[in-house]
Amino acid sequence: MSENNGKKTFYITTPIYYPSGNMTIGHTYTTVAADTMTRFRKMQGYDTYFLTGTDEHGQKIEKKAQESGVTPIEYVDKIVAETQDLWKLMNIEYDDFIRTTQDRHIKVVQKIFRKFYEQGDIYKAEYEGMYCTPCESFWTPTQLVEKDGVKVCPDCGRPCQPMREESYFFRMSKYQDWLIDYIETHPDFIQPAKRANEMLTNFLRPGLQDLCVSRTSVKWGIPVDFDEKHTVYVWIDALSNYITALGYGTENDALFRKYWPADVHLVGKEIVRFHTIYWPIMLHALGLPLPKQVFGHGWLLFGADRMSKSKGNVVYPQPIVARYGVDPLRYYLMREMPFGADGNYTNESFLTRMNADLANDLGNLVSRTVAMIEKYFDGVVPAWDANTAEPVGEALRKHCAGLPKLVDEQMEKLQFSQALAEIWKVIGECNKYIDLTQPWVLGKDPEKKGLLGNVLLTLAECVRFVAVLIGPFMPSTPARIFEQLGVTDENLKSWDSLNCFGMLPDGIRVKKGEALFPRIDVNKELEALSGGADKEEKKADKEQAKAAKKEEKQAKKAEKQEDEYPAEISIDDFFKCKIQAARVTACEKVEKSSKLLKFTLSLGEDGERTVVSGIQKYYDPATLVGRQVAVITNLKTAKLAGIESQGMILSAMDKEGNLRLVSIEEGVADGAIIG
Ligand code: MSP
Repeated sequence: MSENNGKKTFYITTPIYYPSGNMTIGHTYTTVAADTMTRFRKMQGYDTYFLTGTDEHGQKIEKKAQESGVTPIEYVDKIVAETQDLWKLMNIEYDDFIRTTQDRHIKVVQKIFRKFYEQGDIYKAEYEGMYCTPCESFWTPTQLVEKDGVKVCPDCGRPCQPMREESYFFRMSKYQDWLIDYIETHPDFIQPAKRANEMLTNFLRPGLQDLCVSRTSVKWGIPVDFDEKHTVYVWIDALSNYITALGYGTENDALFRKYWPADVHLVGKEIVRFHTIYWPIMLHALGLPLPKQVFGHGWLLFGADRMSKSKGNVVYPQPIVARYGVDPLRYYLMREMPFGADGNYTNESFLTRMNADLANDLGNLVSRTVAMIEKYFDGVVPAWDANTAEPVGEALRKHCAGLPKLVDEQMEKLQFSQALAEIWKVIGECNKYIDLTQPWVLGKDPEKKGLLGNVLLTLAECVRFVAVLIGPFMPSTPARIFEQLGVTDENLKSWDSLNCFGMLPDGIRVKKGEALFPRIDVNKELEALSGGADKEEKKADKEQAKAAKKEEKQAKKAEKQEDEYPAEISIDDFFKCKIQAARVTACEKVEKSSKLLKFTLSLGEDGERTVVSGIQKYYDPATLVGRQVAVITNLKTAKLAGIESQGMILSAMDKEGNLRLVSIEEGVADGAIIG
């Protein structure tokens, strides 16, 4: 955060999303996180700036538009409008929405590109490589991985096309040592820290290749203004948005001067590479400071019950919001998984959290507190009775007074889930406090009126703290709580008012209102939500259930066999098994199966084979590529979920019941016999 006219600034960004299709709950996840963080800093008094937008150029959009029979701009205009509607629906308050098709962006990207060329960072050369259209990425033949005999993109596993063109190249290699040093000496730059290691180990230390930064084959892009056959590579175009939106390179660059460098770029883990290698190098070449942090968060995966055909499993926020409102979904997204880790969206976990955290914990606390003040004090918040000691609530009052600091510490690390967990600890403690002090018993004894008043005032003040602190996460909920609590003074709704516990004035009048979050019948809601699924999804569900049953049967059979080992076998029996070391060259989930992974294995000189293994639950397939496994290669082939499996990968169960792959020490050749 930089100082600006006495006020600290805070600049945060989301990726600019491809408007190739409607935004999903995954895009919503990043955007809600950025909005929550902005609201939090704004509440603390920072001068904030929140940028989001759309990345509209490239072959993928060009193709999509063509398929829909419209021009690219017509195509993206529609999706951009829907995206903006979605952000409005989600109560996202961005300061600017940049579109890469806007003139203000195009002009500056052209200027940046020209500057790179003129200062010798970019040169022109002939290029031959393999191109992955969906990822807009060039790969060298050694970077490609083989899948079913076809060379495919190492990122997405889809086929690549050979491409030869005259292109401009960026001398990335020139900046490699500088960047390694920068990352090593700025431990906060890439977060979580493990992602910094990934970048250093997988990309930077092995050596950076010069990057192809123009295309002659892509028409839907920003023309290189001194060589119009070429368009600027989409990632150079897209990354620049973080400064073009602020007016960098124009006469009107006040925002840039005020907010750059960004405090944090929030991105999904799959695009950390672009943000921590290409982007810093571009900025350094422009003589600009780097963003203070790039945070690569995990993926929101989708519960197996809502699979769709292509890449599958897409959930959109609109139907959820229509049924339950925005705040429960925002809360769930920020609460369910630690920022940085992957997590699964399921309707069930969402509904369970609504009931447990929102209806039971928070909702009950508010309604009980208000109802008791109504019942025992005619709805008027009692004054603190200094003559009556109330020792039971001492710890709670102290805990609550320290809560803003605890929340701030977690927010500083973008640990939204932990910040909410801290708030919910206090909520839980309040509910326990009610059970311990039993106000309904105190209420029967007129002599205990002072004590009862102190208990209820403690609760009301805790509720006020909670209402202020949940605001950035659930923007519409505080107003509903303050209304019930009778707090109208804006000062009492502020972060600053949490400096001291006990600011809630006596004499204000509470007003019982509707339940904040009514309890829901999870089973009924689950049915209602899945009833909304379209036919195709239902069909996929059925097929999936069928496949699951079959897998279960096979697993049972395997278990049975495991128990039926003969007490003794001969060494000859053992040698009938051909076990080999094999390298995983590709690995992906089997469609319509929640258990199976499909492996492409290289056995060195013995060639390749496909093996299906039931370990999907235990491994992220992307993490297995490149690893060596032990495989029985002379097993009779078996068809699993329609795929011919040519072997069996060895694994063992750990203490928790998770299957773990048998590992092989380094130095063993692919194809080597194990025995
Ligand atoms: N256009 C590029 C980004 C350029 S930034 C200079 C792009 N666009 S995208 O539409 O594919 O958006 C990807 C981003 O959307 C992820 O990095 C993440 O922020 C968000 N997410 C989309 N789906 C997601 C999940 N399922 N889970 C978590 N985040 C997800 O990449």
